[in-house]
Amino acid sequence: MAGPGTADTASMLAGVPYFDGLNEKTRKAIAGEGRVISYDSGKTIVDEGGSGVGFYLVLDGKVEVRKGEKVIAELGKGQFFGEMSLIDGQPRSADVVAVAPTVCWVLVSWNFAGILKSHPEVALPMLKELVRRLRVAQGSTAS
Ligand code: CMP
Repeated sequence: MAGPGTADTASMLAGVPYFDGLNEKTRKAIAGEGRVISYDSGKTIVDEGGSGVGFYLVLDGKVEVRKGEKVIAELGKGQFFGEMSLIDGQPRSADVVAVAPTVCWVLVSWNFAGILKSHPEVALPMLKELVRRLRVAQGSTAS
């Protein structure tokens, strides 16, 4: 596990669409609210049915979202997971497993909620992504 967010983390967040609209000072402040954590390939990061306190943004690597044996999504650099349990307090909806060496920026739930409250402009692109995932799940879009 690396230390708390640093200037490096802030520059990594600069490449992430959700944080693109923020100025550098804000991005740095937000970066410092999370921790950078590395996972070996094969590591289960989120357990289906477990309780959730973390929101994860993939800085590097690749994860699979799995329900039982079925892979329902692949997520890579710049994509997030773990938001569902933090939003509604329900158990984790799926396993999320690193399928390559993976580095995530991880926020605990209260920091996640705090950032959405203080920077609501971050929420809109996240909502767009959630709608995209819903459409994929419904089979109403190509990917
Ligand atoms: P959460 O339920 O907290 O933990 C498992 C995570 O997997 C979930 O949040 C989402 O981030 C992610 N996830 C669940 N279903 C999908 C899906 N259909 N497409 C992409 N990601 C998903």
